[in-house]
Amino acid sequence: MSFQEGDLVLLVTGERKYLKRLGRDFSLNLRDRLLKFEDVVGRKPGEVVKGFCLLEPTLEEVILLGFERKTQIVYPKDSFYIAFKLGLSVGKRLLEFGVGSGASTAVFSQLAGEVWAYEVREEFYRLARKNWERFGLCKNVRLENVDFSIVELEEGLFDAVFVDVKDPLPFLEKVWKVLKAGASFASILPTTNQVSSLIKSMEGLFCDVEVLEILHRPYKVNPDRLRPRDLMTAHTGYLVFARKSM
Ligand SMILES: C[S@@+](CC[C@H](N)C(=O)[O-])C[C@H]1O[C@@H](n2cnc3c(N)ncnc32)[C@H](O)[C@@H]1O
Repeated sequence: MSFQEGDLVLLVTGERKYLKRLGRDFSLNLRDRLLKFEDVVGRKPGEVVKGFCLLEPTLEEVILLGFERKTQIVYPKDSFYIAFKLGLSVGKRLLEFGVGSGASTAVFSQLAGEVWAYEVREEFYRLARKNWERFGLCKNVRLENVDFSIVELEEGLFDAVFVDVKDPLPFLEKVWKVLKAGASFASILPTTNQVSSLIKSMEGLFCDVEVLEILHRPYKVNPDRLRPRDLMTAHTGYLVFARKSM
């Protein structure tokens, strides 16, 4: 593979990363190092040009550097873990409501067979679609612009659910009904008091409840002075996992 016009390129220099589409007007200027279209086209991933390492981006980089965000998103550190905790695989159907900018859906859709997704606000419904189309993602997602509370679904349809709305409590019984027996539940909430309310409401409906948070502390990559970076994203949300009980 070599980079061609229209490709996405990740340019890495030191701790900085830039995600760009390689158009004829492409240029990147950093401290007098000017990269232009001609410097990149035809190069192979891993080549270093004027101090920039040229790479194909991963999904994490696409989400963090490429997605337009108008809502809080689920950070990849959380969504990658959630995807595996939900037990997603090609034979599984995931329900997700509260799609927002479409970041978490983009992760889940990579592992799940299909995702049925619901977003109530038209602005965010359009934004999620735009983000996915720009990066060729989420071809197995059925996204609807509707309030999940009025969606009619068969009982026992889903292998897993991810809920990312301000208050998941009013939806718990409906979620329980549309899940298969023993199916996986996950949600993310920003405060501990919301988590307390949720786990109280889950009693009798769900078992194997777990609450955790993921602390992601990147290091300065200097082998002689290896230590954490000065700044980090200290809090994103608390993750709640459970399984449907009968
Ligand atoms: C924090 S955002 C979701 C972010 C998303 N998970 C991501 O990673 O980009 C929450 C979203 O839930 C949507 N929402 C809230 N109540 C909803 C409902 N009843 N049905 C569908 N979507 C809802 C909001 O409009 C908002 O876009």
